[in-house]
Amino acid sequence: MKTIHTRVITFSPTHTSLKIARAVARGCQAAPAEELDLTCRQLRDTVRLGSDCLAVIAVPVYAGRVAPLALQRLKNVRGEQTPAVLLVVYGNRDYEDALVELRDAMTAQGFVPVAAGAFVGEHSYSRPGMPIAEGRPDEADLLLAEEFGRSARHKLDAAGGVEALAPFYIKGNVPYREVGKPTPQAPVWHEDDCTGCGTCVDCCPTMSIRMTDEGEVQTEPSTCIKCCACVKACPAGALTFDTPYTAMLHAKFSARREPEEFM
Ligand SMILES: Cc1cc2nc3c(=O)[nH]c(=O)nc-3n(C[C@H](O)[C@H](O)[C@H](O)COP(=O)(O)O)c2cc1C
Repeated sequence: MKTIHTRVITFSPTHTSLKIARAVARGCQAAPAEELDLTCRQLRDTVRLGSDCLAVIAVPVYAGRVAPLALQRLKNVRGEQTPAVLLVVYGNRDYEDALVELRDAMTAQGFVPVAAGAFVGEHSYSRPGMPIAEGRPDEADLLLAEEFGRSARHKLDAAGGVEALAPFYIKGNVPYREVGKPTPQAPVWHEDDCTGCGTCVDCCPTMSIRMTDEGEVQTEPSTCIKCCACVKACPAGALTFDTPYTAMLHAKFSARREPEEFM
């Protein structure tokens, strides 16, 4: 088998896309993959991946599209006829046009899709008492993801290179579904529970959280992307994101959805 370097490229505030990407990469090759995590990082210089690389690119679905900040962060990652496995991770509602949007963006940036998959991750708005895909990806998801990675690698090896890869069907529509302007909102800080550890400040992808000299945590609604990284990372449960969507999603989208694969 030809030596090929797997690069895992993710934007993943609550780590579900990252978990899927790592499992897929494990299936793609034996050696551990190099990782490029764009969650809290805007690349200043362009990263170029050659055709000796296999890129595993995973991003979350927001409103049936690729999370806008993920697309923006990915802009500085360029391929040169670089094979890629494209992954979107969604919170058990639907992924609508996100996977075709990711395909189009990455193809325009020099990547050649080998396989594409939509996997399920715990919804950012899932809460104790109102779970939405709680604990996913679980062991079964990760086994499927790894197997999917193996199949993608097999497809690439059997083709003998990207030149022999033909475009393939991916579920989703062009033009992509329209998304309205988001209403500014940010997590609420609960002073009595806070231990002042600063985890929330460190994990925010948009630097929308600051801690004052007095130890007060301030969240900025105008730049918050509602990813809930801080809510899930806070060891003391001192941040909550309160939205009526949680109850609606819990009521309507509790039936387990399974990963969908295209290649
Ligand atoms: C603003 C926002 C919009 C979302 N929109 C959708 C959606 O349209 N469909 C869905 O099933 N899940 C949706 N989700 C849930 C995420 O796709 C899901 O939790 C995903 O696993 C998060 O990925 P991450 O762990 O890599 O951050 C949304 C989450 C957020 C924060």
